[in-house]
Amino acid sequence: MQSFVINSALDMHLHLRDEDMLKLVAPLTSNTFSGALIMPNLVPPITTKEALLSYKERIKEATKEDLFDAHLTLFFQNNYSYEFLNDIKNDIIAIKLYPAGITTNSDTGVASMDVENLRPTLESMSKLGIPLCIHGETNGFVMDREAEFMPIYESIAKAFPDLKIIMEHITTKDAIELLDKYDNLHATVTLHHLLITLDDVAGGMLNPHLFCKPIAKRPRDKRALLKAALKAHPKLMFGSDSAPHPKHKKEACGCAAGVFTSPIALQVLTQLFEEHNCLDNLNSFISLNAQKIYNLSPKTKMIKLIKKDFVVPEIYEYNNENVVPMYAGEKLSWSLVD
Ligand code: DOR
Ligand code: ZN
Repeated sequence: MQSFVINSALDMHLHLRDEDMLKLVAPLTSNTFSGALIMPNLVPPITTKEALLSYKERIKEATKEDLFDAHLTLFFQNNYSYEFLNDIKNDIIAIKLYPAGITTNSDTGVASMDVENLRPTLESMSKLGIPLCIHGETNGFVMDREAEFMPIYESIAKAFPDLKIIMEHITTKDAIELLDKYDNLHATVTLHHLLITLDDVAGGMLNPHLFCKPIAKRPRDKRALLKAALKAHPKLMFGSDSAPHPKHKKEACGCAAGVFTSPIALQVLTQLFEEHNCLDNLNSFISLNAQKIYNLSPKTKMIKLIKKDFVVPEIYEYNNENVVPMYAGEKLSWSLVD
């Protein structure tokens, strides 16, 4: 039987939430991944050392796995002092910037993306070598939000040439093209944006489980993302943006944004890279690129997959929490070996 081994997979953009949802979803990543970069958009967002360290403890308890490192991030504020950042820098991998109100729990994000408004915190981050992760969307027309953000990425990249910037969950050809223009720009791409376009979300019957921010774009965008991922473009990393919401918040009027992919990510990526005869590049895309960009040495964790059907569970549940994964009830062609 055909098999493939993934070595020390890293998910460089992950939402683990808190309480029962954390307990439900954390093991679904830590079982197979060697590490993950954890988003800070809790309620309230993580802005203090105390909140950060206690969240780290709760994650550690929930993952129940020694061969897994949770890399935490802080929620960007434009008034962090140099002293505060210097004190916290060894406890975080990066700081995540959300424009205010752009997505789930981002109301206290930054009101203005003007470089001068961001300068105090960015200057300290640049000096201290703390990477900046950005949710790059304006509040313009939904299909144009990411493309409209490109000049903002450029202004930050130019103003802070020593600052490592990660364009999170990119969804457009425009973002792929910008990657090579500035040495200090990098990006993550999700699994779902390599697979779907807006048609899959809203072209037929509305599929709330594929509704996310940024919204999936056009076929040409998907092609550009896929091309870069399949060749393991060295500035591009895998970041699932797996964002669990309970079923009743997805299958609802006023559907929450987020696609839950952690339990299927490795199987589907293997299937995708195999279909395109690019399996040789998968370990770079899912681990080596991130190791280089973030200077990480993950714990060795070999995960074997075999070409055998796997039917995705309809739902994952724990206590009163539940979440529906992408491809719920469908058959994948690769399975994890226990
Ligand atoms: O779809 C999304 N869900 N995009 C985000 O940026 C946030 C995430 C969430 O936290 O639910
Ligand atoms: Zn996210």
